[in-house]
Amino acid sequence: MEPTISPSILNCDVADLVGEMHKIRNADFAHVDVMDNHFVPNLTWGLPVVEALIAKNILPLDCHLMINDPDRWAPQYAEAGAASVTFHAEAAGAPLRIAREIRRLGAKVGLGLKPTTDIHDYLDVLDAFDMILVMTVEPGFGGQPFLESQLEKIRRVRAAADRRDLELAIQVDGGVSRQTITLAAEAGADVFVAGSAVYRSEDAYSEVEALRAAAKAAMCAH
Ligand code: DX5
Ligand code: ZN
Repeated sequence: MEPTISPSILNCDVADLVGEMHKIRNADFAHVDVMDNHFVPNLTWGLPVVEALIAKNILPLDCHLMINDPDRWAPQYAEAGAASVTFHAEAAGAPLRIAREIRRLGAKVGLGLKPTTDIHDYLDVLDAFDMILVMTVEPGFGGQPFLESQLEKIRRVRAAADRRDLELAIQVDGGVSRQTITLAAEAGADVFVAGSAVYRSEDAYSEVEALRAAAKAAMCAH
């Protein structure tokens, strides 16, 4: 299985989003963190910026919605043309309805879990999602250390998906680097978000390749 690399543009030079996205053109997606200053204590951008980036057609967008009331907002990102829309379990009123709506609008749908949110309640409904996002930091900010405590959650999701023969992607987001990507891949993750590792490196393009190689090696060895 091939790893999917989705660098987060959260900590890039936001005055030059287009140029910054070109730097990672060898990635599979650009991960766009939408924060509303309510679900998380930080504010980024919303639908107009996402629509503008989609129109530039540089990379497919993997939208990570750290917002309240995804029931109201999440489908609009699918409608705008995001390739993948992930909303948070903790914020959703009717997660299965949101998931169905996002798929109907033609996007992949992900369910995000904060580090202290248990996967247990969702194990029976994994088939409603294309991806589970296991947060490996408290959402809100880039540059935090990877929480190894979340590896067990990744293993549980992978085991449950395998048992039911589901083609489920498992995304990790937070503190992903050349070192920690190996741990996540060994635990069963296959979609990797990295923000500071990519944009604080000398060369974002080469860092994407290095992350891809490290993930691939760990996935093959497994
Ligand atoms: C954090 C965001 C992440 C963040 C990752 O809430 O969801 O996508 O940009 O940044 P790093 O890789 O620096 O932890
Ligand atoms: Zn994110």
